[in-house]
Amino acid sequence: MSFFSLLCCGKSVDGRDPKSSTWRVFSLKELLSATNKFNYDNKLGEGGFGSVYWGQLWDGSQIAVKRLKVWSNKAEMEFAIEVEILGRVRHTNLLNLRGYCAEGQERLIVYDYMQNLSLLSHLHGQHSAECLLDWSRRMNIAIGAAEGIAYLHHSATPHIIHRDIKASNVLLDSDFHAHVADFGFAKFIPEGATHVTTRVKGTLGYLAPEYAMFGKASESCDVYSFGILLLELASGRKPIEKLSLAVKQSITEWALPLVREKRFEDTADPKLGGNFVEAELKRMILVALLCARSPPDKRPTMLQVVEFLKGEADEKLATLENDAMFRPDPLGNSKGFVLTDKSSDGMSHKKDSKGDTRQETGRFLG
Ligand SMILES: Nc1ncnc2c1ncn2[C@@H]1O[C@H](COP(=O)(O)OP(=O)(O)O)[C@@H](O)[C@H]1O
Ligand SMILES: [Mg+2]
Repeated sequence: MSFFSLLCCGKSVDGRDPKSSTWRVFSLKELLSATNKFNYDNKLGEGGFGSVYWGQLWDGSQIAVKRLKVWSNKAEMEFAIEVEILGRVRHTNLLNLRGYCAEGQERLIVYDYMQNLSLLSHLHGQHSAECLLDWSRRMNIAIGAAEGIAYLHHSATPHIIHRDIKASNVLLDSDFHAHVADFGFAKFIPEGATHVTTRVKGTLGYLAPEYAMFGKASESCDVYSFGILLLELASGRKPIEKLSLAVKQSITEWALPLVREKRFEDTADPKLGGNFVEAELKRMILVALLCARSPPDKRPTMLQVVEFLKGEADEKLATLENDAMFRPDPLGNSKGFVLTDKSSDGMSHKKDSKGDTRQETGRFLG
């Protein structure tokens, strides 16, 4: 389906009145002028789709403009999906769509500008040295992002799965509130369906095993990725750390042994300098590991995740803390186990400028 048939006459596919949302069509001329002709100095970031530029409209409002790198059918589809899905949803924790531009081969998406860029830039990127993420900000980011995803899974109709939840896709506004972004891989889940079988997309380190292996995408794949994101947020570690040239360790393999030994404080990001609320850290780490467990039906829903993180279901969490997964390993195998390069066999991936490995396709196609 072409982009224009998706958004024919400005109406979304369910025929809802477009006036209920506030996006509009921009002209290329307007966006060239807003971004100083996509000047390199205006560049905010880059992802698989293209570069994102800062801009200012004639009314003084600040925008971010994502510009497609190279036109292709696949890129056109990613563009159409993002505009279509983001145009339908409205939530304080989802990035707000201002509109789009499709002139000739130019494909541009216009969003609200997020002053504090991505969570990735604060955890591992250009802002990491500034240590702006104190514990209360981290907690608010966790709860906010969880609420945004819970809205997609449980309130949007049809339900939506994001399929690329990760630190570079959580943006932070001037108050460090989380806004989930980048809907290029998102999918609608038809009513009554438990999952959709699909070509594997997403980012290595965040992919749920059943999705990476069999292409089974459901809400619980986002829950898994969110679990990895929570561990990253609490610990400041990357989803996969290189221990040596050939040996890698996933963040769950690092965290689980510490939790089994009840050493929650050792999971905290050293950058916090010991300034965190112990009970909240414990909650965040337990919830993260519950999200990243298998099989998928053992994972909590995003609504439960929100409750856990807010401390509204502490009794239930205490029960889950007694689960076998958190008990000391009887084989004494609690020092952490490693993931070798073999774990990514059969998957092709490319690196974007942030060093993420964004998976293009798997060999397990649906
Ligand atoms: N609205 C925005 N405000 C500020 N920075 C943004 C905004 N949108 C994107 N960025 C920056 O650009 C990067 C890539 O954007 P994203 O939407 O994830 O693109 P892609 O689909 O190419 O991955 C983000 O990680 C972030 O650093
Ligand atoms: Mg992205």
